[in-house]
Amino acid sequence: MTDEKLLILAREALKHSFSPYSKFRVGAALLAKSGKVYTGCNIENSSFSLTVCAERTALFKAISEGETEFSKILIVSDADDFITPCGACRQVISDLAGAVEIILTNAGGEMQHKNISDLLPFAFGQASLLTKRK
Ligand code: THU
Repeated sequence: MTDEKLLILAREALKHSFSPYSKFRVGAALLAKSGKVYTGCNIENSSFSLTVCAERTALFKAISEGETEFSKILIVSDADDFITPCGACRQVISDLAGAVEIILTNAGGEMQHKNISDLLPFAFGQASLLTKRK
């Protein structure tokens, strides 16, 4: 599965974006180690904080179908600037797909390759809950 093909799939998913409030469409394509691709778009809500981002839609779809290991997640929007995951998605990616390669793109189709420690250094995680406490 090439990055270019993932970009095509993420752009297809972006077309399903439900974003009447922000009018900011986002798509994601997540490649699981199984070889299957799970796509997602942002889904907004009139109670704004209930909005789910494209990245979490894709990840939750994959997890709910039994996937546990992931190779790449590519994110796309209509913006000229590179799209980067919000803080909530960084935390969810860190917890559920910590080893995934994160591919940021811009409207021109350029790509930047990152990993979660680039985007969320010093992360809180499962291990943090196991530390000795008073
Ligand atoms: N959004 C995403 O879906 N992914 C990102 O990486 C950044 C933001 C969505 C959430 C909301 O629907 C809209 O973009 C504006 O914040």
